[in-house]
Amino acid sequence: MNTSIHSQWSSKLAFIFAATGSAVGLGNIWKFPYMTGEYGGGAFVIVYLLCVALMGLPIMMAEVMLGKRGRNSPINSMKILAAEAKQSQWWQLLGWSGVVAGILILSFYSVVAGWALAYVPKLATGEFLIINSMPLAEVQTFIDATFNSLVANPYNLIIWHTIFMSLTMLIILGGVQGGLERALTFMMPALFVLLLILVAYAMTTSNFMDGVHFMFDINFNNLLYPNCTATSCELSGDGILAAMGQAFFSLSLGMGAIMVYGAYLPDKTSIAQTTAIVVIADTLVAILAGLIIFAIVFSNGLEPGAGVSLVFKTLPIAFGQMPFGSLFGTLFFILLALAAWSSAISLIEPAVAWLIETKRFKRLGATLFLGILTWLLGLLTVFSFNIWSEINPLFMFPNFADKTFFDLIDYLTSSIMLPLGGLFMAIFVAWLMKKQIIEAELNGSSKHFGYRIWYFLLRYITPLGVGLVFLNAIGIFS
Ligand code: PHE
Repeated sequence: MNTSIHSQWSSKLAFIFAATGSAVGLGNIWKFPYMTGEYGGGAFVIVYLLCVALMGLPIMMAEVMLGKRGRNSPINSMKILAAEAKQSQWWQLLGWSGVVAGILILSFYSVVAGWALAYVPKLATGEFLIINSMPLAEVQTFIDATFNSLVANPYNLIIWHTIFMSLTMLIILGGVQGGLERALTFMMPALFVLLLILVAYAMTTSNFMDGVHFMFDINFNNLLYPNCTATSCELSGDGILAAMGQAFFSLSLGMGAIMVYGAYLPDKTSIAQTTAIVVIADTLVAILAGLIIFAIVFSNGLEPGAGVSLVFKTLPIAFGQMPFGSLFGTLFFILLALAAWSSAISLIEPAVAWLIETKRFKRLGATLFLGILTWLLGLLTVFSFNIWSEINPLFMFPNFADKTFFDLIDYLTSSIMLPLGGLFMAIFVAWLMKKQIIEAELNGSSKHFGYRIWYFLLRYITPLGVGLVFLNAIGIFS
């Protein structure tokens, strides 16, 4: 048994709430719908779901197990586990890449969560009620203008980004178990109820079924030829890579967030059962969010491919029109920010835990140092939407020529670092760890049917899947 200076979750349920809190966030409600919209709907969704089932679930089990066995921050857990498996100390790099990915993701995550915060007062003051008396064409102009004027002003964004980062640091200071457990126990159910209310509303809109068809009718052309113009169409693996990256992002996999939460797991807890619950909850929230948003998109003649602003340009219309819309709308954006908050914590906890373990940092020092670093990096995202919106750091590479700092950080983390991290976790567990250790940690036996499927997926399917998607994305097959 490896020792730990950290405390543990008080129960299995506390872990489920924490891991679901990490998984459910902007990825489900903001990112999943807009990516589905950008990549044309059903085919993106099906590839995403396949990645969740065939790679996400097995890797989440592996990642929780690595944490539970290592009992330390991802960097130190990997160090201990590599020694235990008589493997190279280079495996620590897996922990390091996770720490870097976490900070990079949090840097833009905090800015976008800031948008959600900025929408709270807009809804509370009934700013969107006015659309009831507008013709459809003006509604779109109005909501566009509301969003655009928010992101055009760097000072505004910096204020909300600062508020969100401070809130995140506050919880981290309290210690994940103390601060987080209590808050999450009511936040997660409340968010879910509100989503169901919105689904009920969406079902009353005129074009609900168009949204359903958009999300579930599979048309691979939309996914494989995302950059079609009137004159040319180019085959591209980008859509498939994006769907896989989204599966990792949404499940918080491949960077140690789930590993560090696993490190706080009480000994006897069933890993298979708890992770299955987390994966199902996360997927359900994403699908519900998609159904809500596309119903509004098609009922109001909006563009599904609007990009990062999609949620902010669709939901306010619903809240403007529905009974008690201002109340529900205010609650919704508060809950979205809360869901982001519970994910943000898990993005930075691996780094905090490591600083505390190794460098004799106190929680306060570690939190301040990492918080300020992340805040500074976040400015790259803030400026990507205004003063630097025309700056494309990788302009010399055709594939990245039009990407801003924000686009690049998002791409590097979701599409590259998380899947690679997950791939190496799968390899470590399924090829290098001793089977007896795995069986002991999973409280299972290698004869159990579920166990064998899991091991097979992790050993063969996951590495093959991630590998193929990468090769496809760099154009090997086209
Ligand atoms: N899963 C979170 C979301 O969907 C984001 C996240 C990614 C959190 C990686 C932790 C680690 O919003």
